Amino acid sequence: MESAFRDGLLNGKTAFVAGGTSGINLGIAKRFAQLGAKVCVVGRNPEKAANAAAEIGAGALGMSADVRDYAAIRGALEATVAEFGKLDIVVSGAAGNFLAPAMGMSANAFRTVVDIDLNGTFNVFRACHDLLNTPGASLIAITAGQAVNASPLQIHACAAKAGINQAVRVLAMEWGPDIRVNGISPGPIAGTEGMSRLAPGQSADGGHQERIPLKRWGRIEEVAESAVFLCSTSASYVTGTILDCDGGSQLGDASRRMPAA
Ligand code: NAP
Ligand code: COA
Repeated sequence: MESAFRDGLLNGKTAFVAGGTSGINLGIAKRFAQLGAKVCVVGRNPEKAANAAAEIGAGALGMSADVRDYAAIRGALEATVAEFGKLDIVVSGAAGNFLAPAMGMSANAFRTVVDIDLNGTFNVFRACHDLLNTPGASLIAITAGQAVNASPLQIHACAAKAGINQAVRVLAMEWGPDIRVNGISPGPIAGTEGMSRLAPGQSADGGHQERIPLKRWGRIEEVAESAVFLCSTSASYVTGTILDCDGGSQLGDASRRMPAA
């Protein structure tokens, strides 16, 4: 796709992407690397992490660590700094999700999603803070529309992502001026695990886009462009914001038409 960002924009930067071994976050990591950053991606599955690093190329690291395990995440961050010498950009995007009504969800099921999404984001950001010793450091949390819009079958993700949005705002206040903290809220993104779980049977070309103002699902590359913007100097006065990269989905149902006379 056409991009406003020039080659070399992230030369000399190091990025750590938690949950960067597939889907949207891998797309972000790839774009960072294309623009010159050194990148480390982390997920639970070591083989998936190694494959993701190979796919990114450019000397990328792929490591296995669970965001629910503070020590493991701290270890992966320290290994990144040991390999690349510094840390400038951290993306927290690991998430788990499934459709279930509240009464079809055990306490452990609810806790599992909150642990991965919300507590995981706290762990990643808390663990990286003292390693971000370069000017212009930037943190990005990957949130979702469920943070704002209540959605049946999603009590775990709604609660977790709402918590992430507030964590972004709190950390932006606590960690300025040296560190900027923002979020990206993707809309429905084609070809992702998230959409196959949350909209089974629907597809990007299946006529399910009428409600979205831009009338289509988004592309992974479009979310990656938002991440590049937020960690670039173009966003030097932007902190504590959630950037909706969602085709306007959060505005509501855009399919309403005048009733026939
Ligand atoms: P995905 O491909 O399933 O990516 C999830 C990533 O997180 C994988 O790399 C996964 O690797 C990792 N992960 C999961 N649990 C982990 C844990 N406990 N510790 C460390 N890593 C863990 O999902 P996606 O659909 O691209 O979604 C990516 C992000 O975008 C999520 O934050 C999601 O909420 C958000 N989002 C997605 C959409 C969408 O349309 N897909 C819309 C709005 C928001 P392992 O399985 O190997 O751990
Ligand atoms: N409905 C209801 N409960 C469910 C469920 C479902 N579809 N899927 C899992 N659970 C419950 C389990 O039964 C378990 O509860 P229990 O111990 O009371 O039985 C609890 O959730 C934890 O499941 P477990 O499989 O042990 O968790 P995990 O840590 O191995 O995996 C998940 C985490 C469940 C979120 C898993 O789906 C995952 O790994 N997701 C990552 C990928 C993803 O979701 N991507 C999309 C991002 S938007």
